[in-house]
Amino acid sequence: MSEEDGHTDGGIEARLDEQDVFEPPASFVEQANVTDEGIYEEFEENWPDAWERAAELIEWEEPWDRILDDSNEPFYEWFVDGKLNASYNCVDRHLDERAEEVAIEWVGEPGESRTYTYEELHREVTEFAAALYELGVGEDDVVAMYMPMIPELPIAMLACARIGAPHAVVFAGFSPDALADRMNAGDSSYLVTCDGYYRRGDPLNHIEKARSGVEKVDQDVTSVVVDRLGDERAVDLGPDEHDYDTLVQEQAGATVEPVTRDAEDMLFLMYTSGTTGEPKGVKHTTGGYLAYAAWTSHAVLDLKPEDTYWCSADIGWITGHSYIVYGPLALGTTTLMYEGTPDYPDNDRFWEICDEYDVDVFYTAPTAIRAFMKWGPEYPAAHDLSSLRLLGSVGEPINPRAWLWYYEHIGGEECPIVDTWWQTETGGMMITTLPGINDMKPGSAGPPLPGIGADVVDPSGDPVGADRAGHLVVNRPWPGMLRTLYRNDERFLEEYWREYSKSERDQWVYFPEDGAKIDADGYITVLGRVDDVINVSGHRLGTMEIESAIVGVPGVAEAAVVGGDHELKGEAVYVYLITEDGQEETDAFRDEIVAAVDEGIGPIARPEEVIFTPELPKTRSGKIMRRLLEDIASGKELGDTSTLRNPEIVGEIAEQIGGADE
Ligand code: PRX
Repeated sequence: MSEEDGHTDGGIEARLDEQDVFEPPASFVEQANVTDEGIYEEFEENWPDAWERAAELIEWEEPWDRILDDSNEPFYEWFVDGKLNASYNCVDRHLDERAEEVAIEWVGEPGESRTYTYEELHREVTEFAAALYELGVGEDDVVAMYMPMIPELPIAMLACARIGAPHAVVFAGFSPDALADRMNAGDSSYLVTCDGYYRRGDPLNHIEKARSGVEKVDQDVTSVVVDRLGDERAVDLGPDEHDYDTLVQEQAGATVEPVTRDAEDMLFLMYTSGTTGEPKGVKHTTGGYLAYAAWTSHAVLDLKPEDTYWCSADIGWITGHSYIVYGPLALGTTTLMYEGTPDYPDNDRFWEICDEYDVDVFYTAPTAIRAFMKWGPEYPAAHDLSSLRLLGSVGEPINPRAWLWYYEHIGGEECPIVDTWWQTETGGMMITTLPGINDMKPGSAGPPLPGIGADVVDPSGDPVGADRAGHLVVNRPWPGMLRTLYRNDERFLEEYWREYSKSERDQWVYFPEDGAKIDADGYITVLGRVDDVINVSGHRLGTMEIESAIVGVPGVAEAAVVGGDHELKGEAVYVYLITEDGQEETDAFRDEIVAAVDEGIGPIARPEEVIFTPELPKTRSGKIMRRLLEDIASGKELGDTSTLRNPEIVGEIAEQIGGADE
């Protein structure tokens, strides 16, 4: 926290100095879904059977025989032999009581809106499921989706779930190359996409990106194209492209019974970044994932069927899957989707939406909160936010100043904040306070949820003790956990699991690759990634993926990508670059590098700075000292450089970037 920040809003500093624990407001506790402190003990004493609580929130065609099968660790199975359908649970089962209630409230960026009641959602999901059958999609075929925040995205996901075809949603901001990589990895022969969408008033051409991605897919692809932009962009469809509306109209009134899926059958694949350049296809299943998404939506987000709930994430990431689509719809809630950005047409867009739709629960990311802080409290103050009951944060550590600002200016000091730590791989929230029970400590996510075992350990697996930094581990399975990496059990074992034979329970331990510390009350503060993954505005990006996009540019000899601190984004991408002999170090060349990253991954990974250097700091054994490069990028004081083969290079780089003395 810089001094300068302190001057702009000194009140926050003073308050944080005198108060570091906040009690949940009584008005919230009175009505909370979960208020019995005994729940932690109940899960401990009755583990794993206590997880029935989660499974009972959804409907099963056939009940499970066993809660947990741990005979083949760490390939755990949950709710063994249970049968269900996720689309039935998110749609059909609400028809008796909630047919006329709103399932999806959609707000387009230019200002229009669309509402789907549960009955309307049922109709369109069924019709699109019939259309998918007609196109030849069969059970277990992976259907890729490359769509922005439009209602047809959750509809297509639920239609896939209805017929047992796993979906693989690729964030619309990713590049065509990234789409092609993921479709090849998942062997997807089907794609649902759209013509375009609005971003800050401009209609973006999305179909062109989708088409150039499809060109690089190895197998033949059949595409469905949603017409989002109408007359704004007329698209001539090719022979393998089908218009979404026409397909749905052709199936008007069709009925498609939800197929019976085994609890362990794949519901979806979600690609995420890891240490190597190749994205990982995280596999989530029907029973455990859905039960876990529903349970955490109930216990942590406190969702009730009559709520209007808004998660401002994009469905292209796991947060949108679990907490825009599956969790809230499984509970019969109204889930709100917004197409655009928070600053269009003005910086109060989010608060205007909260006001207009009487949003009860709001879930966003620290990067957005930091932007709101910068814009100033007058934007939320101009709107009535009194409908809000609970606030959530996800995706990266939230600094205490941002926490307090959120608490005061958005929650009016009457809403608890849940700072929820979890990952693509965990399927749902793992570490956070229960808002009707626990006190909140700004900056610390809180204790592990009931039934979740988490600790902070040293490199040999021993707990580090209070307030010491170490590696976060999860030492018990949970229903929402990833089951494997798609077609790559070996990488799944290698990347996430270690067996500590000396540990008490002789158990397998899951490594999320995050650093953390734990305080005397058992509250966990997550410090950030310990692998080569960076977190830009809550988006997880692999440095190796970015590097491989860059080293393909003619004239580049070597590149190292690291994350450096960034006031708004949390972290930003910094590129250190050695050029080949004869390649001039010009701004035009920098632009080429930026364009290569746009093309390889997408504008979310766009470098903050490209720094030319004659050498990279390397250890005597030739390893790039990334930590040092990160410190230079963040302008931190540099630690020990004596183990370097070329210590003099550090000063040279720091001078170029100017970061070290800012
Ligand atoms: O480093 C942690 C950070 O985001 C990573 C997971 O990223 P992803 O799989 O894209 O999922 C993001 C949404 C769940 C984690 O390994 N992270 C997520 N939530 C928090 C967090 N870091 C600190 N505090 C959090 N609440």
